[in-house]
Amino acid sequence: LWTTENIIEDSIKRIREQVGSDQVMLGLSGGVDSSVVAALLHKAIGDQLTCVFVDHGLLRYQEGDQVMAMFAENMGIRVIRADSEERFMSALEGKTDPEEKRKIIGREFIEVFDAESAKLQGVKWLAQGTIYPDVIESAGSKTGKAKVIKSHHNVGGLPEDMEMSLIEPLRELFKDEVRKLGVALGLPYKMVYRHPFPGPGLGVRILGEVKKEYADILRLADHIFIEELHKWDLYDKTSQAFAVFLPVKSVGVVGDARRYDYVVALRAVETIDFMTARWAHLPYEFLEHVSGRIINEIPRISRVTYDISSKPPATIEWE
Ligand code: XMP
Repeated sequence: LWTTENIIEDSIKRIREQVGSDQVMLGLSGGVDSSVVAALLHKAIGDQLTCVFVDHGLLRYQEGDQVMAMFAENMGIRVIRADSEERFMSALEGKTDPEEKRKIIGREFIEVFDAESAKLQGVKWLAQGTIYPDVIESAGSKTGKAKVIKSHHNVGGLPEDMEMSLIEPLRELFKDEVRKLGVALGLPYKMVYRHPFPGPGLGVRILGEVKKEYADILRLADHIFIEELHKWDLYDKTSQAFAVFLPVKSVGVVGDARRYDYVVALRAVETIDFMTARWAHLPYEFLEHVSGRIINEIPRISRVTYDISSKPPATIEWE
């Protein structure tokens, strides 16, 4: 019988047979797939696993610390955190073209990952969170936006000078099976059922040039939006929700003074396959509450808008 318990048991057996007493490395993003691989490998081979987590400074509010707390502190998994914010910010300086930004982020990511992995001695295996839909997707023609990190770090194979073999324990599983596995392995429900987050992170949610100042503002706005979606029991009713930083200034009044501050857009969609999507019809009272909090709590934001565009023609992300 193909139950979650059986899948776990079978995977553990196969992983142990495959790697023996070798050391295994995993690029941990904090996303569902790589997190489940981390939990599974840790259960199968314990200390033979080392994870590399690249913090590019374009993660969500406190995300880097959360990843470390969960995997390193709670689960006792060895995780190397590569704090690379400055590197990414300077590589992105002056860059405004979305595809160029994606390429830069993907390239820097690989460089940091390679540099960290080079420090690890005697690692024979590189684990990846490739799932069945990734296998299918990369076999067919590529449509839509380039998934830079995915295409480099999943499926595409290994960098040529890396003498490691691939291990992909989720390769035969669909997303819902991966999620069930995650819960059964003890990962928190909230993380396993989290909305998808693009590899380039906030880099494609800050329109135009990326700056640390913008990322810091956006993180706060996004956090308020997501926190309220949870409180109002709307999070699971949307497929993906986030804030977008618009590098334009709009006027606002504070007391007697006029101020020019930034604008954020809120985006929430409902979709099954992410190929088409409807903008989520969130209640006005909810939007009013979120907008009030964002404007009152974040000094540099003067205006909040809600995106009412569906896909197609509008994509889910703004870049
Ligand atoms: P779009 O914006 O194309 O997004 O409607 C569809 C889904 O893909 C995600 N997305 C990305 N994921 N790297 C990723 O890993 C990317 O460059 C990228 N661009 C979009 C997006 O968040 C949505 O879930």
